[in-house]
Formats: sequence, C-alpha cells, structure tokens
Amino acid sequence: MTSENQAQDKDLRIQTLQQALDARTRECEALRTELEDTNRGVLALYSELDEQAEQLRHATELKSRFLAYMSHEFRTPITAIQSITRLLIDRVDGPLTTEQERQVIFVRDTAAEFADMVNDLLDLAKLEAGRVDISPAWFEMVDLFSALRGMFKPVLTNPDVSLIFEPPQELPRLYTDDRKLSQILRNFISNALKFTPRGEVRVAAELADADRITFSVTDTGIGIAPEAHGSVFQDFMQIDSPLQKRYRGTGLGLAVSRRLTELLGGTIGFDSEPNVGSRFYVTIPLAYASATQPSTASGAQ
Ligand SMILES: Nc1ncnc2c1ncn2[C@@H]1O[C@H](COP(=O)(O)OP(=O)(O)OP(=O)(O)O)[C@@H](O)[C@H]1O
Ligand SMILES: [Mg+2]
Repeated sequence: MTSENQAQDKDLRIQTLQQALDARTRECEALRTELEDTNRGVLALYSELDEQAEQLRHATELKSRFLAYMSHEFRTPITAIQSITRLLIDRVDGPLTTEQERQVIFVRDTAAEFADMVNDLLDLAKLEAGRVDISPAWFEMVDLFSALRGMFKPVLTNPDVSLIFEPPQELPRLYTDDRKLSQILRNFISNALKFTPRGEVRVAAELADADRITFSVTDTGIGIAPEAHGSVFQDFMQIDSPLQKRYRGTGLGLAVSRRLTELLGGTIGFDSEPNVGSRFYVTIPLAYASATQPSTASGAQ
C-alpha cells in the first residue's frame, strides 16, 4: 500500500468512526428525550396519586365526622325514649294493661338495642378519627373481674349457660386503661353468651410472659366456620347463622375491640371450631407504655 492509499484508508476509517459516533450521539439524544418523557410521566402520576390520597383522607375524615355527629345526635332522642318507657313501666303516670306493658317493654328493649348500636358507631368513629385517649391507671384483676360479673348478672337469662370467671391466681397489678380493657372483654363475653346455646362461657387471665398478660373468653358455642375466620374483625361483619337472626347487632364489637387492643399496645386473636366452641383472647402489656409499637391482630383474624 502506497502512502497515499494509507492516508485515504485512514480518512475513510475516521469518517466511518465519525458516522458511528454521530449515530450513537443521536441514539443517546433520543434515549435522553425518552427518559425525560418517562420522568415527566412518573412525576405526573405521583402528583395524581398524591391528589387521590388527599381526596381519600378527606373522604375518610368526612365519614368519621359524619358518623360521630350522627351517632352523637341520636343519643338524645334514644335517652328520651328510654326515660319515658321507664316512667310508663314504673306506672308513674297510672296503670297499664298487660298488653300495654308488653308493648312498652318492646319499645324499651328496641331502644336499648338501638342505643348499643349508636354507641358502637360512636366508638368506631372516635377511634377512626384518632380521638380516643388512653388513660392508664393501676388496678387489680379481681376488681376488673368482679365489675364484669356484676355487669353481666342481669343479662344472664339462659339457664343452660353458665358464666364462669376463673379466679386470677397471683397475677401482678396492671397499669393500663381498665375501661378499654373492660370494653374488649365485654365484647368477647357478650358474643360468647350470644352464640352459646348451652354449656359455659369461661373468662380467664394468665401471664403470657414476664411483661404481658392474656385474657381469654372460651365458650362451648356454635363456633365459627374456617372460611369466615379471616373476616370476623372487619367492620360490620356478621356471620350468617340462625342465632345471628335471633340477636341483632351491628357487627362492630370485634372491629372496635381490635382497634382498642392496638391502642393498648396488644394483640387480639381467636381459635374456633364449628359446633365445639371459640376462644377469643387479647394479650396486652402489664404496664401500658405510651410509645408502644403499633401491633396487628394475631392468629386467625
Ligand atoms: N364467640 C363467638 N362464637 C361464634 N361466633 C362469633 C363469636 N364471636 C363473634 N362471632 C361472630 O363474629 C361476628 C362479629 O362479631 P361482633 O362482636 O363484631 O359483632 P356482633 O356481635 O354481631 O354485633 P355487635 O357486637 O356490634 O353488637 C358475629 O356476628 C358472629 O357471627
Ligand atoms: Mg358483638
């Protein structure tokens, strides 16, 4: 190859390289533009998501406010109905015939059911709005159990079911919100009594470990079918059963209990077998710490 040819060959190679470089640059440019477009798209999606999250927050807040307002407003008329029926039943305004008494008792019982429902809704609304404060105090388990026993005495109408409180054995004192704990246990006990046609409902407490205590309510009732296990702690959840039709309710008791348990820094759960019975339990710290970790429902939930 002559030196002239060599020079030409070199030029040609440089030219080819230059072309390849140009092509790469154009490719890079195209990629950059594409990337920029994608970036813009992602940003637009982000802001849309933000907007939707904001709308959702607003809707949830509105729902909670509406629930709180509505349930609160319902309490006044219900209280009026309850007081007037009490006056009528006590014959303050004169005698009643047997039929009239039957009817007034029906009104009183329905108003009581309605009041329970409204209270559940109000609790749920307050919990959702984060307006429930925990007020811990020291108390003895024996006192908690005897208060519960007293509350349930008047409603134990089924002679085939006994409500047993196992005496707490050498358990330390508790430092937690006894009202919230009592509310959780009341929900457990009233469910157990509702869904147990015969046998017993047993309330017990035992240490789970050095720092936590487990309260349980075990019944010999209708139990819960495995396919329903996943949903009993959901709002407004009720399982279709003949007993369910006999006792009305809102399906909020356990949903409220779950949220209350979380506030107390504990866990809630249950085991159940159809036609054998159920055991609902709640495990909470012996001493409430305001900075307790948020917890989840455990076991079947
Ligand atoms: N001990 C139990 N045995 C059998 N089924 C139960 C038991 N406890 C709860 N369940 C089922 O779980 C459902 C939800 O219970 P939850 O306490 O939330 O609602 P509810 O008792 O129906 O109504 P509310 O408590 O609001 O009056 C019940 O309707 C029932 O189907
Ligand atoms: Mg209930």
